[in-house]
Amino acid sequence: MEVPTAAAAVEAFVADAATIVGDRHVLVDEDLVASYAVDWTGRWRGTSPAVVRPGSTAEVAAIVGAARRHRVALVPQGGNTGLVGGGVPLAGEVVLSCTRLDEVGEVDELAAQVTAGAGAPLAAVQHRAAAAGLAFGVDLGARGVATIGGMIATNAGGLHVVRHGTMRAQVLGVEAVLGTGDVVSRLRGLVKDNTGYDLAQLLCGSEGTLGVVTAARLRLVPDPAHVTTALLATATVADAVALAAHLRAVVPGIQALELMVGDSLRRVVDHLGTGWPVTADADAYLLVEATGADDPTPTLAAAVDAGPAGGGPVLGVAVATERPDRDRLWALREGHPEAAAALGIVHKLDVTLPVAEVAPFCARVTAVVAERWPDAHLLLYGHVGDGNVHVNVVGPPGDDPAVDDAVLELVVGAGGSISAEHGIGRAKRAWLTRDRSPAEVAAMRAIKRALDPDGILNPNALLPPG
Ligand code: FAD
Ligand code: MLT
Ligand code: ZN
Repeated sequence: MEVPTAAAAVEAFVADAATIVGDRHVLVDEDLVASYAVDWTGRWRGTSPAVVRPGSTAEVAAIVGAARRHRVALVPQGGNTGLVGGGVPLAGEVVLSCTRLDEVGEVDELAAQVTAGAGAPLAAVQHRAAAAGLAFGVDLGARGVATIGGMIATNAGGLHVVRHGTMRAQVLGVEAVLGTGDVVSRLRGLVKDNTGYDLAQLLCGSEGTLGVVTAARLRLVPDPAHVTTALLATATVADAVALAAHLRAVVPGIQALELMVGDSLRRVVDHLGTGWPVTADADAYLLVEATGADDPTPTLAAAVDAGPAGGGPVLGVAVATERPDRDRLWALREGHPEAAAALGIVHKLDVTLPVAEVAPFCARVTAVVAERWPDAHLLLYGHVGDGNVHVNVVGPPGDDPAVDDAVLELVVGAGGSISAEHGIGRAKRAWLTRDRSPAEVAAMRAIKRALDPDGILNPNALLPPG
């Protein structure tokens, strides 16, 4: 289903696009286009003849219609913070930037819902919710730039999944332009709506291959009155995993359980140039956040003191309840992607393991990288409450997938998933058939053919060629 982006076809498409969205919203200048053609890591870099920036759902539909007519491939793009090469034009596609669709509606306080344009940054939705005394259930480090459309398309996870679920749990309906050019719109926010196939949920995690999301009806959650954040140092990764499971079981209102392997956090602290709130020598650290209508600190402290049956000792504890102090603890966790990027091109693998496999996997991946790439830097961190480990390797050239393959081999062997939250994109599409069965991939291809019959929407992402 690869779509040729023939020069003449592109030229005719660009002319049509300019009449649809206006000249100034079609970028063809190489320097202007360049930043849309490379991803956040710098590992995935392509070229594009044009960036088209529609300002309404009707304009998106007209652009998709023109792309069908001229058989030009489109890559939908939001904030371009995706980490798997899925939102950049690696095969010369035209970029369909959704950032102008950034309107955030008034909060419906009765329903605890809001409608947001696909191009609205996550932070804008968070601010709008906070102003109404509510919160949005998904939070992640790229909150200032990542868009609602991109987060739906990747089914983003992030820091609060253990409490509120992934992006799909927040989505009550979408407006989208399918690859056929048809507009589907269901933004009424009905919590119960069993009227056949749930197209909104189908678009969650579809990575821009089935439709262009233009708006979404989103669920909001209560804004907790009290939040306590704690950094806990443990002797081993296994101890951190066991402690996380224990805290989730006994502390109500846990909203984050984040693992940082000792060597990784030491690199982040060096990078940030900050001090240590707890011992610097531990093998693992757990960042935990608990919420409640009353201060959850005593319950959390008692649970940490008791620990899991047979668990190792906690080597150090730092607790914060005020926003600036909590932010200082969170900076240690959120500094990981930046600290890795500062070392060079990062091979980023985001994987989930069965919880019992998290610690053995961390040990195995450390050993394999040390043996085969002794000069490489390895950072291991992630959302351990979800069994999600982020493996970052810096050293091997960006165009050499050997280390990616070695890590994913371990994941598949341990019964995990090759993508916990970032998606398949371009980076892992050769691996899709190792994770999903032939019947599953065939069903995905059938859906793709039905909703995007000409294969114009992100044809080089997610599904492997063939
Ligand atoms: P883009 O990067 O622009 O696109 C991503 C994918 O979505 C592409 O396949 C693209 O084609 C498609 N797409 C974009 N917009 C649309 C649309 N309107 N309609 C249809 N398809 C579309 N991710 C997590 O899940 N959890 C984290 O904790 C997390 N933390 C991060 C921290 C940092 C510092 C960074 C840089 C990234 C992080 N990410 C995380 C990854 C990234 O932020 C998410 O994948 C996010 O959902 C991408 O949103 P975006 O708007 O930038 O999408
Ligand atoms: C995170 O949790 O920090 C993100 O998913 C980004 C990353 O993997 O580096
Ligand atoms: Zn993550």
